[in-house]
Amino acid sequence: MANERQFKLRTHFIATRGVREYRETIPSLIKSSDQVLEIGCEWGTTTAILAQHCGAVIGTDISPDCIARARQLHPDIRFEVLDAFDVRSALGFGHPFTKIYVDLSGFSGYRALLDVISLLTMYATIFQPEAIVIKSGALKQFATLCRPWRSLSALAQSNDHSETATEDEAPVG
Ligand SMILES: C[S@@+](CC[C@H](N)C(=O)[O-])C[C@H]1O[C@@H](n2cnc3c(N)ncnc32)[C@H](O)[C@@H]1O
Repeated sequence: MANERQFKLRTHFIATRGVREYRETIPSLIKSSDQVLEIGCEWGTTTAILAQHCGAVIGTDISPDCIARARQLHPDIRFEVLDAFDVRSALGFGHPFTKIYVDLSGFSGYRALLDVISLLTMYATIFQPEAIVIKSGALKQFATLCRPWRSLSALAQSNDHSETATEDEAPVG
């Protein structure tokens, strides 16, 4: 039975469609204090953009060939081979990641939605980052159709709350 002590995720999930939207999030979301993990970095193009905005970034990919090429193209950035589902190895990097970027091939279609949600939940639970940005057109479409139900009394309460809200309560920094 759910209660007040139940563990609740605080991470925001930001679903983007296509690489343009995925990269467009960087200047508005990433701060110089952020430690960022990119999962599915291929040759490191997005990792290199992230590196311009954050304090530290690691680009990862399941393909050793991609990682070798990424290291060649961006020698100042750290790249590591990682299977996205091997979260234990991601923990081994020893960084308290504050933002995570996910761009895995095969993750855009509706049939991959359960895998997408399970991966997001895993990383949100273990690293508790402020936000995870994912390139998944299916998740974006699904999220657009989702509305959390709120009763009239809950709505009235949240209106009262928003009148007294401070900047600290803004969703993602
Ligand atoms: C579209 S590319 C990434 C492009 C890159 N993010 C960019 O912005 O330039 C998708 C990458 O996902 C990687 N990938 C696929 N399955 C993976 C997995 N299970 N774990 C890690 N990387 C994976 C592929 O090797 C491929 O390089």
